[in-house]
Amino acid sequence: MPSEIPLDVYIDVHIDVHTGVLPASLNKIKRALITEAQNIITGGIYLGNLDWIDVSGLSFNTMLLLEKMQLDYLPKMEIPRKELAVALKANPAVEWYLRHKTAGLNSWLDALLQEYAAPAPSRKKVRQAEAAVLDGINDWLVYVVNPELYDRQDFLNWDSQELREVADFQERRVIDLGAGTGRLTLVAAEQAAEVFAVEPIARLREYLQKKAGNQGYNNIYVVDGLIEAIPFPADFADIVMGGHVFGEDCQQEYREMARVVRPVGKLVLCPGNNDCDNEIHDFLVNRGFNWSSFLEPGDGLKRKYWKRMSTSNSD
Ligand SMILES: C[S@@+](CC[C@H](N)C(=O)[O-])C[C@H]1O[C@@H](n2cnc3c(N)ncnc32)[C@H](O)[C@@H]1O
Repeated sequence: MPSEIPLDVYIDVHIDVHTGVLPASLNKIKRALITEAQNIITGGIYLGNLDWIDVSGLSFNTMLLLEKMQLDYLPKMEIPRKELAVALKANPAVEWYLRHKTAGLNSWLDALLQEYAAPAPSRKKVRQAEAAVLDGINDWLVYVVNPELYDRQDFLNWDSQELREVADFQERRVIDLGAGTGRLTLVAAEQAAEVFAVEPIARLREYLQKKAGNQGYNNIYVVDGLIEAIPFPADFADIVMGGHVFGEDCQQEYREMARVVRPVGKLVLCPGNNDCDNEIHDFLVNRGFNWSSFLEPGDGLKRKYWKRMSTSNSD
């Protein structure tokens, strides 16, 4: 996102009279402006609110593809609450799925459905509500609906040299956290002895394992896991890295990264943050990370962070 977009921009949008959904191109502009405004308001904390998939053709049943770890995030996401209540009342199978997949959502759902208890609206209004909800989580849906679409996003076309120049992967054992479609994994695998790509979403794991095979790699192992609970023993890897995944719980995530990297190994976050001095930046700098900025095409400047661990790994 170019940071020079003025915030007093006024857009006169024409909403499709049948669906009430913004056409994809206008949706993109709307999202870009919202993201930029949020960056200014939040100091650049990533809120997961990008326009990665056009939801206008998706059934509300697509919610049934979401995994538990994604559902756990729902209360924190930018979903319009009233529309969610309307959509859930019209789709009891989805409500049942949410409640049974993630018991922790029950009280949140109870409160939401109570707050917006209203008579059932027209089918058209229900569809508008469904589309608004799906749009609010489109960046989660793209992973389970169409990983290839995520893989085609412009911002992934940053210069791979940015990663290579902060870590020498030659013959190393590497962990890539939140590997997604393999943006960092595949760069490391060119030289590393082995790369363990940790990714919690099954559809992405399947996509990445296949992509790695198609590109001829036999040193990539795609495994289930979370950055806050990395599925490896202490001192396991020479390099522990991640892109666009650090920052939800800095303490716990850093603790885990420091646990699985061997003494004098390296931690790398590429990118690890937007280009701003926020809490994530302060946390990393206070722990001795170096940093610099680089450009993600179409999404502005990002910061990468790297740090060599000391012999004790307790820092
Ligand atoms: C924005 S994508 C980045 C993917 C890849 N690293 C890249 O730079 O293109 C974030 C990835 O982190 C994964 N993810 C989300 N929460 C996670 C967590 N708590 N632990 C590990 N991975 C997570 C998502 O499934 C997704 O694949």
